[in-house]
Amino acid sequence: MTPPKVSTTDMFSPMQDRATPPAGVKLPLNLGLNDGTYAPQRCFEVFKRYTQRTDLRNYSSPNNDPLREVIARIDGVDPDNIFLHNGTGPILKLAIPYLLKQRVLASPKRILRHAVSRAGFPIITPRFTYSKVPKKAAEGGMHVDMLPLDPGDNFQLDVSRIERRLERGDGLVYIVNPNNPTGNILATREKMIPLIERFPESRFWIDEAYVHYVDPGEHEYFSNLVPRYPNLMVSRTFSFAYGLAAVRIGYLLAKPSFVADLERQVTNYRLGILQEQLGVAALEDPDHLPFVREATAKARAQLYAGLDPLHGVQTFPSQANFILCRFTDGRRGSELKAQMARRQIAIKCFDPANGQNYDPYFRLTVGLPEENAFLLENLAEVIG
Ligand SMILES: Cc1ncc(COP(=O)(O)O)c(C=O)c1O
Repeated sequence: MTPPKVSTTDMFSPMQDRATPPAGVKLPLNLGLNDGTYAPQRCFEVFKRYTQRTDLRNYSSPNNDPLREVIARIDGVDPDNIFLHNGTGPILKLAIPYLLKQRVLASPKRILRHAVSRAGFPIITPRFTYSKVPKKAAEGGMHVDMLPLDPGDNFQLDVSRIERRLERGDGLVYIVNPNNPTGNILATREKMIPLIERFPESRFWIDEAYVHYVDPGEHEYFSNLVPRYPNLMVSRTFSFAYGLAAVRIGYLLAKPSFVADLERQVTNYRLGILQEQLGVAALEDPDHLPFVREATAKARAQLYAGLDPLHGVQTFPSQANFILCRFTDGRRGSELKAQMARRQIAIKCFDPANGQNYDPYFRLTVGLPEENAFLLENLAEVIG
Protein backbone atom coordinates (compact mmCIF):
# COMPACT_ATOMS: atom_id res chain seq x y z
CA MET A 1 0.00 0.00 0.00
CA THR A 2 1.29 3.47 -0.78
CA PRO A 3 1.75 5.53 2.41
CA PRO A 4 -0.89 8.28 2.74
CA LYS A 5 0.30 11.71 1.69
CA VAL A 6 -0.66 14.41 4.15
CA SER A 7 -0.72 17.99 2.98
CA THR A 8 -0.61 20.98 5.30
CA THR A 9 -4.22 21.69 4.32
CA ASP A 10 -5.20 18.25 5.68
CA MET A 11 -3.27 19.03 8.78
CA PHE A 12 -5.11 22.23 9.57
CA SER A 13 -8.54 21.10 8.42
CA PRO A 14 -11.30 21.75 10.97
CA MET A 15 -12.78 18.39 9.88
CA GLN A 16 -9.91 16.49 11.48
CA ASP A 17 -9.83 15.12 15.06
CA ARG A 18 -9.15 17.95 17.49
CA ALA A 19 -7.11 17.36 20.58
CA THR A 20 -7.71 19.95 23.30
CA PRO A 21 -4.35 21.52 24.03
CA PRO A 22 -3.29 22.22 27.61
CA ALA A 23 -2.24 25.74 28.69
CA GLY A 24 0.90 26.90 26.90
CA VAL A 25 0.31 24.79 23.75
CA LYS A 26 -1.03 26.36 20.57
CA LEU A 27 -2.45 24.23 17.78
CA PRO A 28 -1.38 23.44 15.13
CA LEU A 29 1.92 22.52 16.77
CA ASN A 30 4.83 22.29 14.37
CA LEU A 31 7.48 19.89 15.63
CA GLY A 32 8.50 18.87 12.15
CA LEU A 33 10.87 21.61 10.98
CA ASN A 34 13.29 21.97 13.92
CA ASP A 35 12.35 25.62 14.60
CA GLY A 36 14.17 26.79 17.75
CA THR A 37 12.32 27.74 20.88
CA TYR A 38 13.61 30.91 22.57
CA ALA A 39 14.89 34.14 20.97
CA PRO A 40 17.62 36.07 22.80
CA GLN A 41 16.21 38.49 25.38
CA ARG A 42 18.23 41.36 23.84
CA CYS A 43 16.22 41.10 20.62
CA PHE A 44 13.24 42.59 22.42
CA GLU A 45 15.20 45.80 23.09
CA VAL A 46 15.30 46.25 19.30
CA PHE A 47 11.52 46.35 19.00
CA LYS A 48 11.36 49.20 21.53
CA ARG A 49 13.29 51.42 19.07
CA TYR A 50 10.37 51.33 16.61
CA THR A 51 7.40 53.26 17.89
CA GLN A 52 6.70 55.88 15.21
CA ARG A 53 5.14 55.52 11.77
CA THR A 54 8.32 56.98 10.26
CA ASP A 55 10.73 54.64 12.06
CA LEU A 56 10.88 52.03 9.29
CA ARG A 57 11.14 54.31 6.27
CA ASN A 58 14.87 53.90 5.60
CA TYR A 59 16.79 51.09 3.97
CA SER A 60 19.32 49.15 5.99
CA SER A 61 23.03 49.55 5.22
CA PRO A 62 23.65 48.18 1.68
CA ASN A 63 25.86 45.25 2.76
CA ASN A 64 24.61 44.89 6.33
CA ASP A 65 28.05 45.91 7.59
CA PRO A 66 27.00 46.27 11.26
CA LEU A 67 25.93 42.60 11.33
CA ARG A 68 28.95 41.42 9.33
CA GLU A 69 31.29 43.14 11.76
CA VAL A 70 29.76 41.39 14.77
CA ILE A 71 29.81 38.00 13.02
CA ALA A 72 33.46 38.57 12.05
CA ARG A 73 34.41 39.32 15.64
CA ILE A 74 32.51 36.38 17.14
CA ASP A 75 33.38 33.76 14.52
CA GLY A 76 37.03 34.77 14.11
CA VAL A 77 36.82 35.71 10.41
CA ASP A 78 37.07 38.93 8.33
CA PRO A 79 33.93 40.78 7.18
CA ASP A 80 34.77 39.91 3.57
CA ASN A 81 34.53 36.19 4.45
CA ILE A 82 30.79 36.65 5.14
CA PHE A 83 27.89 36.20 2.72
CA LEU A 84 24.55 37.05 4.34
CA HIS A 85 21.15 36.00 3.07
CA ASN A 86 17.58 35.29 4.18
CA GLY A 87 18.41 31.94 5.77
CA THR A 88 20.87 29.20 4.82
CA GLY A 89 18.27 27.51 2.61
CA PRO A 90 18.60 30.25 -0.06
CA ILE A 91 22.41 30.18 0.33
CA LEU A 92 22.62 26.43 -0.30
CA LYS A 93 20.32 26.76 -3.29
CA LEU A 94 22.39 29.55 -4.80
CA ALA A 95 25.91 28.52 -3.86
CA ILE A 96 26.05 24.75 -4.37
CA PRO A 97 25.08 24.60 -8.08
CA TYR A 98 27.27 27.65 -8.74
CA LEU A 99 30.24 26.08 -6.99
CA LEU A 100 29.86 22.73 -8.71
CA LYS A 101 29.61 24.39 -12.13
CA GLN A 102 32.62 26.60 -11.40
CA ARG A 103 34.72 23.62 -10.33
CA VAL A 104 33.73 21.54 -13.38
CA LEU A 105 34.57 24.39 -15.77
CA ALA A 106 37.93 24.94 -14.06
CA SER A 107 39.51 21.86 -15.69
CA PRO A 108 39.21 20.23 -19.15
CA LYS A 109 39.49 16.77 -17.51
CA ARG A 110 36.51 17.54 -15.30
CA ILE A 111 34.50 18.92 -18.22
CA LEU A 112 35.08 15.64 -20.08
CA ARG A 113 34.24 13.49 -17.05
CA HIS A 114 31.13 15.58 -16.51
CA ALA A 115 30.02 15.15 -20.12
CA VAL A 116 30.45 11.37 -19.85
CA SER A 117 29.15 10.58 -16.36
CA ARG A 118 27.98 13.85 -14.74
CA ALA A 119 30.76 13.25 -12.22
CA GLY A 120 33.02 16.20 -13.08
CA PHE A 121 32.92 17.49 -9.51
CA PRO A 122 30.64 15.23 -7.44
CA ILE A 123 29.02 16.11 -4.16
CA ILE A 124 30.17 13.73 -1.44
CA THR A 125 27.88 13.56 1.57
CA PRO A 126 26.61 11.16 4.24
CA ARG A 127 23.66 9.03 3.24
CA PHE A 128 21.22 10.25 5.88
CA THR A 129 21.51 14.05 6.00
CA TYR A 130 19.68 17.33 5.21
CA SER A 131 18.17 15.78 2.12
CA LYS A 132 17.50 19.01 0.24
CA VAL A 133 21.18 19.34 -0.61
CA PRO A 134 21.83 15.94 -2.27
CA LYS A 135 18.31 15.99 -3.77
CA LYS A 136 18.74 19.40 -5.42
CA ALA A 137 22.24 18.47 -6.60
CA ALA A 138 20.93 15.25 -8.18
CA GLU A 139 18.00 17.14 -9.77
CA GLY A 140 20.51 19.64 -11.16
CA GLY A 141 22.27 16.78 -12.95
CA MET A 142 25.15 16.47 -10.47
CA HIS A 143 26.63 13.20 -9.35
CA VAL A 144 26.06 12.50 -5.63
CA ASP A 145 28.37 10.10 -3.82
CA MET A 146 26.85 8.81 -0.60
CA LEU A 147 28.94 7.94 2.44
CA PRO A 148 27.45 5.18 4.60
CA LEU A 149 25.89 5.99 7.98
CA ASP A 150 24.62 3.06 9.96
CA PRO A 151 22.11 2.96 12.84
CA GLY A 152 24.10 0.01 14.30
CA ASP A 153 26.85 2.38 15.51
CA ASN A 154 24.62 5.44 16.07
CA PHE A 155 25.48 6.90 12.65
CA GLN A 156 29.20 7.48 13.13
CA LEU A 157 30.92 8.84 10.01
CA ASP A 158 34.07 7.03 8.98
CA VAL A 159 36.13 10.00 7.77
CA SER A 160 38.71 7.70 6.16
CA ARG A 161 36.04 6.90 3.54
CA ILE A 162 36.07 10.57 2.47
CA GLU A 163 39.83 10.34 2.07
CA ARG A 164 39.59 7.21 -0.08
CA ARG A 165 36.87 8.83 -2.16
CA LEU A 166 38.91 12.02 -2.73
CA GLU A 167 41.98 10.00 -3.72
CA ARG A 168 39.91 8.98 -6.78
CA GLY A 169 39.08 12.60 -7.68
CA ASP A 170 38.15 15.97 -6.19
CA GLY A 171 34.65 16.96 -5.16
CA LEU A 172 32.51 18.95 -2.75
CA VAL A 173 32.27 17.34 0.67
CA TYR A 174 29.06 18.50 2.42
CA ILE A 175 28.73 17.64 6.10
CA VAL A 176 26.02 18.83 8.47
CA ASN A 177 27.58 19.03 11.93
CA PRO A 178 25.79 18.05 14.14
CA ASN A 179 23.95 16.14 11.46
CA ASN A 180 20.28 16.55 10.62
CA PRO A 181 18.41 14.20 11.16
CA THR A 182 20.73 11.92 13.16
CA GLY A 183 21.63 14.63 15.73
CA ASN A 184 25.25 13.60 16.25
CA ILE A 185 28.59 15.27 15.55
CA LEU A 186 29.98 13.67 12.41
CA ALA A 187 33.27 15.50 11.97
CA THR A 188 35.87 17.12 14.21
CA ARG A 189 38.55 19.62 13.24
CA GLU A 190 41.17 17.06 14.16
CA LYS A 191 39.85 14.60 11.56
CA MET A 192 38.97 17.10 8.85
CA ILE A 193 42.00 19.42 8.80
CA PRO A 194 44.34 16.76 7.33
CA LEU A 195 41.81 16.23 4.49
CA ILE A 196 41.29 19.95 3.93
CA GLU A 197 45.07 20.35 3.65
CA ARG A 198 45.66 17.24 1.55
CA PHE A 199 42.97 18.02 -1.07
CA PRO A 200 43.24 21.75 -1.85
CA GLU A 201 41.29 21.35 -5.11
CA SER A 202 38.32 19.81 -3.27
CA ARG A 203 35.82 21.93 -1.37
CA PHE A 204 34.62 21.24 2.19
CA TRP A 205 31.27 22.67 3.30
CA ILE A 206 30.48 22.25 7.00
CA ASP A 207 26.85 23.15 7.64
CA GLU A 208 26.82 24.30 11.27
CA ALA A 209 23.07 24.98 11.36
CA TYR A 210 22.75 23.26 14.77
CA VAL A 211 26.26 23.76 16.15
CA HIS A 212 25.28 26.32 18.81
CA TYR A 213 23.40 23.62 20.71
CA VAL A 214 26.82 22.09 21.42
CA ASP A 215 29.07 23.74 23.99
CA PRO A 216 32.24 24.97 22.20
CA GLY A 217 34.18 23.57 25.18
CA GLU A 218 33.08 20.07 24.10
CA HIS A 219 33.35 20.51 20.34
CA GLU A 220 35.47 23.13 18.57
CA TYR A 221 33.53 24.85 15.79
CA PHE A 222 34.99 25.13 12.26
CA SER A 223 34.26 28.85 11.63
CA ASN A 224 37.62 30.43 12.50
CA LEU A 225 39.44 28.04 10.13
CA VAL A 226 37.86 29.74 7.10
CA PRO A 227 40.47 32.55 6.73
CA ARG A 228 43.21 29.87 6.87
CA TYR A 229 41.73 27.41 4.34
CA PRO A 230 40.36 28.82 1.05
CA ASN A 231 38.72 25.44 0.27
CA LEU A 232 36.64 25.45 3.49
CA MET A 233 33.13 26.90 3.82
CA VAL A 234 30.95 27.06 6.92
CA SER A 235 27.24 27.94 6.97
CA ARG A 236 25.22 29.14 9.93
CA THR A 237 21.62 30.11 10.62
CA PHE A 238 19.66 32.07 13.23
CA SER A 239 16.67 29.73 12.82
CA PHE A 240 17.49 27.18 15.50
CA ALA A 241 19.56 27.95 18.63
CA TYR A 242 18.80 31.69 18.22
CA GLY A 243 15.07 30.96 17.92
CA LEU A 244 14.63 33.43 15.00
CA ALA A 245 13.29 31.22 12.19
CA ALA A 246 10.53 33.79 11.60
CA VAL A 247 13.12 36.50 10.88
CA ARG A 248 15.13 34.55 8.23
CA ILE A 249 18.86 35.20 8.63
CA GLY A 250 21.67 32.88 7.58
CA TYR A 251 25.24 33.27 6.42
CA LEU A 252 28.09 31.51 4.69
CA LEU A 253 31.73 31.91 5.67
CA ALA A 254 34.01 31.42 2.68
CA LYS A 255 37.06 32.84 0.92
CA PRO A 256 36.52 36.50 -0.14
CA SER A 257 36.55 35.78 -3.90
CA PHE A 258 33.74 33.22 -3.53
CA VAL A 259 31.74 35.65 -1.35
CA ALA A 260 32.23 38.31 -4.08
CA ASP A 261 31.04 35.83 -6.77
CA LEU A 262 27.86 35.15 -4.79
CA GLU A 263 27.31 38.87 -4.08
CA ARG A 264 27.33 39.53 -7.84
CA GLN A 265 24.39 37.16 -8.30
CA VAL A 266 22.03 38.85 -5.84
CA THR A 267 21.09 42.40 -4.95
CA ASN A 268 22.44 44.25 -1.93
CA TYR A 269 20.05 45.66 0.71
CA ARG A 270 19.03 41.98 1.10
CA LEU A 271 18.54 41.97 4.83
CA GLY A 272 16.22 44.62 6.21
CA ILE A 273 17.06 46.78 9.17
CA LEU A 274 15.05 44.63 11.58
CA GLN A 275 16.89 41.49 10.46
CA GLU A 276 20.21 43.30 10.76
CA GLN A 277 19.53 44.69 14.23
CA LEU A 278 17.95 41.47 15.56
CA GLY A 279 20.98 39.53 14.31
CA VAL A 280 23.37 41.91 16.09
CA ALA A 281 21.33 41.82 19.31
CA ALA A 282 21.15 38.01 19.21
CA LEU A 283 24.89 37.59 18.78
CA GLU A 284 25.68 40.15 21.46
CA ASP A 285 23.45 38.61 24.12
CA PRO A 286 25.95 36.81 26.37
CA ASP A 287 23.31 34.86 28.30
CA HIS A 288 21.41 33.40 25.39
CA LEU A 289 23.38 30.37 24.18
CA PRO A 290 24.20 29.00 27.68
CA PHE A 291 20.50 29.34 28.55
CA VAL A 292 19.35 27.65 25.33
CA ARG A 293 21.83 24.78 25.71
CA GLU A 294 20.63 24.08 29.22
CA ALA A 295 16.91 24.39 28.36
CA THR A 296 17.34 22.17 25.27
CA ALA A 297 19.28 19.50 27.18
CA LYS A 298 16.49 19.37 29.78
CA ALA A 299 13.75 19.25 27.15
CA ARG A 300 15.60 16.54 25.22
CA ALA A 301 15.89 14.47 28.42
CA GLN A 302 12.14 14.93 28.96
CA LEU A 303 11.49 13.55 25.44
CA TYR A 304 13.88 10.60 25.80
CA ALA A 305 12.27 9.68 29.12
CA GLY A 306 8.78 9.79 27.59
CA LEU A 307 9.80 7.89 24.43
CA ASP A 308 11.62 5.15 26.30
CA PRO A 309 8.51 3.18 27.41
CA LEU A 310 6.88 3.30 23.93
CA HIS A 311 6.75 -0.12 22.25
CA GLY A 312 8.81 -0.71 19.17
CA VAL A 313 10.47 2.72 19.15
CA GLN A 314 14.24 3.15 19.17
CA THR A 315 15.79 6.59 19.76
CA PHE A 316 19.24 7.84 18.82
CA PRO A 317 21.47 10.15 20.89
CA SER A 318 21.19 13.80 19.81
CA GLN A 319 23.21 16.92 20.53
CA ALA A 320 20.73 19.18 18.73
CA ASN A 321 17.10 20.30 19.13
CA PHE A 322 15.57 17.18 17.58
CA ILE A 323 15.55 13.44 18.15
CA LEU A 324 15.66 10.77 15.46
CA CYS A 325 13.48 7.74 16.19
CA ARG A 326 12.97 4.43 14.41
CA PHE A 327 10.17 1.89 14.53
CA THR A 328 11.65 -1.55 15.13
CA ASP A 329 8.38 -3.42 14.56
CA GLY A 330 7.68 -2.72 10.89
CA ARG A 331 5.57 0.41 11.38
CA ARG A 332 6.24 3.42 9.19
CA GLY A 333 7.10 7.02 10.02
CA SER A 334 4.64 8.24 7.37
CA GLU A 335 1.74 6.46 9.14
CA LEU A 336 2.64 8.09 12.43
CA LYS A 337 2.99 11.47 10.73
CA ALA A 338 -0.55 11.12 9.29
CA GLN A 339 -1.98 10.09 12.68
CA MET A 340 -0.27 12.97 14.46
CA ALA A 341 -1.40 15.40 11.76
CA ARG A 342 -5.01 14.53 12.63
CA ARG A 343 -4.16 15.73 16.13
CA GLN A 344 -2.68 18.90 14.61
CA ILE A 345 0.89 18.00 15.51
CA ALA A 346 3.42 18.04 12.67
CA ILE A 347 6.40 15.70 12.86
CA LYS A 348 8.94 14.74 10.20
CA CYS A 349 9.15 11.49 8.26
CA PHE A 350 11.50 10.78 5.38
CA ASP A 351 10.87 10.09 1.71
CA PRO A 352 13.12 7.63 -0.09
CA ALA A 353 16.19 9.48 -1.36
CA ASN A 354 19.07 8.49 -3.63
CA GLY A 355 18.00 4.83 -3.65
CA GLN A 356 17.65 4.61 0.15
CA ASN A 357 14.44 3.90 2.04
CA TYR A 358 13.82 5.60 5.39
CA ASP A 359 10.32 4.24 6.08
CA PRO A 360 10.82 3.24 9.75
CA TYR A 361 12.24 6.62 10.78
CA PHE A 362 10.66 9.78 12.15
CA ARG A 363 12.11 12.93 13.73
CA LEU A 364 10.72 14.99 16.59
CA THR A 365 11.70 18.61 17.18
CA VAL A 366 12.34 19.51 20.81
CA GLY A 367 9.73 22.08 21.83
CA LEU A 368 8.82 23.93 25.00
CA PRO A 369 8.27 21.69 28.08
CA GLU A 370 4.46 21.93 27.80
CA GLU A 371 4.63 21.14 24.06
CA ASN A 372 6.87 18.14 24.69
CA ALA A 373 4.48 16.81 27.34
CA PHE A 374 1.57 17.21 24.91
CA LEU A 375 3.54 15.51 22.13
CA LEU A 376 4.44 12.57 24.40
CA GLU A 377 0.85 12.18 25.56
CA ASN A 378 -0.34 12.01 21.97
CA LEU A 379 2.47 9.68 20.87
CA ALA A 380 1.65 7.32 23.73
CA GLU A 381 -2.01 7.22 22.64
CA VAL A 382 -1.15 6.68 18.99
CA ILE A 383 1.79 4.29 19.32
CA GLY A 384 0.60 2.52 22.47
C1 LIG B 1 21.16 21.34 8.06
C2 LIG B 1 20.32 22.48 7.65
N1 LIG B 1 20.88 23.49 6.96
C3 LIG B 1 20.14 24.53 6.56
C4 LIG B 1 18.79 24.63 6.84
C5 LIG B 1 18.04 25.83 6.35
O1 LIG B 1 17.77 26.69 7.42
P1 LIG B 1 17.36 28.23 7.23
O2 LIG B 1 17.02 28.43 5.79
O3 LIG B 1 16.20 28.46 8.14
O4 LIG B 1 18.55 29.03 7.64
C6 LIG B 1 18.17 23.60 7.53
C7 LIG B 1 16.72 23.64 7.80
O5 LIG B 1 16.10 22.67 8.19
C8 LIG B 1 18.96 22.50 7.97
O6 LIG B 1 18.43 21.48 8.66
